[in-house]
Amino acid sequence: MCGIEILGTGAYTPVLRVTNDDLAKVVDTNDEWISTRTGIKARHITNGEPTWRMGAEASRQALENAGIDGSEIGLIIATTITSDFSTPSVACVIQDAIGATDAAAYDLNAACSGFVYGIDAAKRYLQTDSDLKYVLVVAAERLSKITDYTDRSSCILFGDGAAAAVVARSDKMFTSYIGADGRGAKFLYSKVHKVLHPFRTTDADEIETGDFAAGKYFLYQDGKEVYKFATKALPAAAKKAADKIGLDIADIDWFVPHQANIRIIETAAKNLGVKMDKFIVNIAEHGNTSSASIPTALHEAITDGTIKRGDKLCLVGFGAGLTMGAVIIEY
Ligand code: COA
Repeated sequence: MCGIEILGTGAYTPVLRVTNDDLAKVVDTNDEWISTRTGIKARHITNGEPTWRMGAEASRQALENAGIDGSEIGLIIATTITSDFSTPSVACVIQDAIGATDAAAYDLNAACSGFVYGIDAAKRYLQTDSDLKYVLVVAAERLSKITDYTDRSSCILFGDGAAAAVVARSDKMFTSYIGADGRGAKFLYSKVHKVLHPFRTTDADEIETGDFAAGKYFLYQDGKEVYKFATKALPAAAKKAADKIGLDIADIDWFVPHQANIRIIETAAKNLGVKMDKFIVNIAEHGNTSSASIPTALHEAITDGTIKRGDKLCLVGFGAGLTMGAVIIEY
């Protein structure tokens, strides 16, 4: 079987920590509501650090833990919805920062499922390109850039951060499933700036809105629709990945889910028939950091010794798009 192995992980969490009480000073909310509805107690937000710098810091750590040099990386896949640039890719800027001089580099946008999509892609490159030895998958997100801090139903959820993994070809078990349902795109989105070039004869919003409301440059969500999708998508993606190799869900040691809402994770666990003590959860301290959430939880659980070599892991996510995906891998 051609699988992949995670050689090393790293993470960067901004120093600036915003508690629920801090948020209650800027919007009409309170710690009790946020804690009981979401499980979030705090989130970390950049104090100006750009997305690429967080990604570079996480990548340096992942390289160090993998015991390899940046120059040995053949491909960098950066996952983000909050790049610092329309172009170049944040992956290219990270490539320079970590001295990965021989690496191809590109960004991948699958929203909160990004890291799972990235690992899936890394495996396919490693499977088909025998010259490629190491791939760096780095998730870097600065959600504070697109968060509306006047909208209490969404601003309480999000944080910033980055995490990375160096992966290589191996004989270890691997299976994955990635999917999307574009009909749900309208439930979770952030638009780019309105295009008003000098030759345009109208600035009417309806020309460019379609299913998407005018304005909405900050992240907009229909919380209930996203919640419904998430509780079905997480177990469905995990099952689809497991079924591909005839693996029993009960044989998975750890689930590392996207950290969006503790109630989503609990419902997904119930729907999968798996006890919560098999789920790695760090949402209380980080909130939802989009594609960085799964690798941050993974890195923390590896670092504190919860996840050990030989454990079977299921990394499972959902996000805007709507997207979903799961990777089952032996650590
Ligand atoms: N503080 C206090 N009250 C709040 C609040 C806040 N931060 N946000 C909303 N409320 C209020 C609402 O105004 C509403 O009041 P009302 O009944 O007087 O109208 C009440 O709380 C219930 O709101 P509701 O939207 O029904 O809450 P909910 O239980 O559905 O929880 C979310 C809202 C956003 C936490 C939940 O829908 C969710 O997590 N959805 C998924 C979002 C997500 O994961 N997005 C990212 C995906 S990658």
